Amino acid sequence: MKGAAAAGAAAGMPLNANWEMVEQDQGPKPEPRVARFEKLAFGMFIHWGLYSQMAKGEWVETMHGIPRDEYLKLMSTFTAEDFDAKSIARLAKRAGMKYCTLTARHHEGFSLYDTKGLSDLDITNTPARGRDLIAEYTTALRDEGIVPMLYHTTLDWNDKRFNDDFDAYLDYLHESVELVCKSYGEIGGFWFDGNWAKKEADWKLDRLYGIVREHQPEAMIINNTGIGAYGVLEHEEIDSVTYERGRPEPMDRSKHKKYITGEMCHTMNFHWGRADKDFNYLSPAHVIEELCASRRAGANLLMNLGPEIHGKLPEYESASFARVGDWIRHHGALIYEGKPGVLGEDGDFGLMLQDELYLFITQISATASTYAHGPAVRGTAARKFTKVPGEWKSAKWLDTGQELKLEQEGDSLTLHPTGYPYGTNMVVRVARLTR
Ligand code: GLC
Repeated sequence: MKGAAAAGAAAGMPLNANWEMVEQDQGPKPEPRVARFEKLAFGMFIHWGLYSQMAKGEWVETMHGIPRDEYLKLMSTFTAEDFDAKSIARLAKRAGMKYCTLTARHHEGFSLYDTKGLSDLDITNTPARGRDLIAEYTTALRDEGIVPMLYHTTLDWNDKRFNDDFDAYLDYLHESVELVCKSYGEIGGFWFDGNWAKKEADWKLDRLYGIVREHQPEAMIINNTGIGAYGVLEHEEIDSVTYERGRPEPMDRSKHKKYITGEMCHTMNFHWGRADKDFNYLSPAHVIEELCASRRAGANLLMNLGPEIHGKLPEYESASFARVGDWIRHHGALIYEGKPGVLGEDGDFGLMLQDELYLFITQISATASTYAHGPAVRGTAARKFTKVPGEWKSAKWLDTGQELKLEQEGDSLTLHPTGYPYGTNMVVRVARLTR
């Protein structure tokens, strides 16, 4: 590898869509808010609203055809009595999550904030009136050093203007977002979702994003393109593309005017809002794999939980997130600051941090066979990496310090992993390479 590229590789260079490292100056540089977001790496998505009381997922109103008037009776029992923003902040910290994204308003149109008369469907018309849940959330998170972000729906099932007078509806939506922008101090990002419901409409996105840029210049702008539309850039103001339950890929940066990053969101079972009869839970091992699959491409992982009726954090998800936090702690800054370095086979990959290359090896032992999209376990079979920048002399497991056999020929590298010692299973095991 040539001098300049090798030096850049040490610092961690951006990848192109072919998983090749490119010089920083070949493409646009990340704006500071985007660079900061990439280092947050792992976040907590929180879906909580009226639907949480029904425990059948956040789409229960439309999926079960519940009449509007009947559904909105849920406002009279929305007490928020167990919503404790401090416990969210503590869990995020424990789990190694550096940001949270809470549904300020979801598709049902109910706002967790006081809309100051813009809509009747808000917290002021519930038994929780008098509380400002978004203020509690933003304050508690900042106190723990966690960045608060907000999800805001763009569609609305219960506002007739959405179908009858779209322009008036957009005025309402934009005024709502402006109000949120002005009421809670610095927000790390806005996560919009719902444009896919009216694909052909003019959503006046310049105006919406202009409002965010004006009042929250440091906020990330994200707008979910939905399942199947992975990594799609729909507007030039977007800072991060989405991969809802997808597999992030490096962006083709030659195509875009600015540096855009990516975020994958995933949920612990198959609903985003609480669903008591959904037992199809991810394990902590699976979450570790999802996190690795995201960092492999330089993307963040936003992992969801759905609080209980009155806002209490669910036990299984909380415990699982904490366990993932234990895994992250073994790897420290690498998870947050490591930049995609090389690509291996079947989920293996490498991250660069300072002058070192770290290889992430998946499916080592028979009990680590949950890799979501991979084939069967590969045990201790040799692992090959191509397009490897620089020359590497030695490799050691991070968890035990055991020396590993490493062979390099040009830019191809082969690592010979060993099995786990009794008492250990890292799910994804990391080897540290030195020059
Ligand atoms: C989908 C769903 C929504 C959920 C979101 C999270 O767009 O409509 O319920 O909030 O995904 O990614």
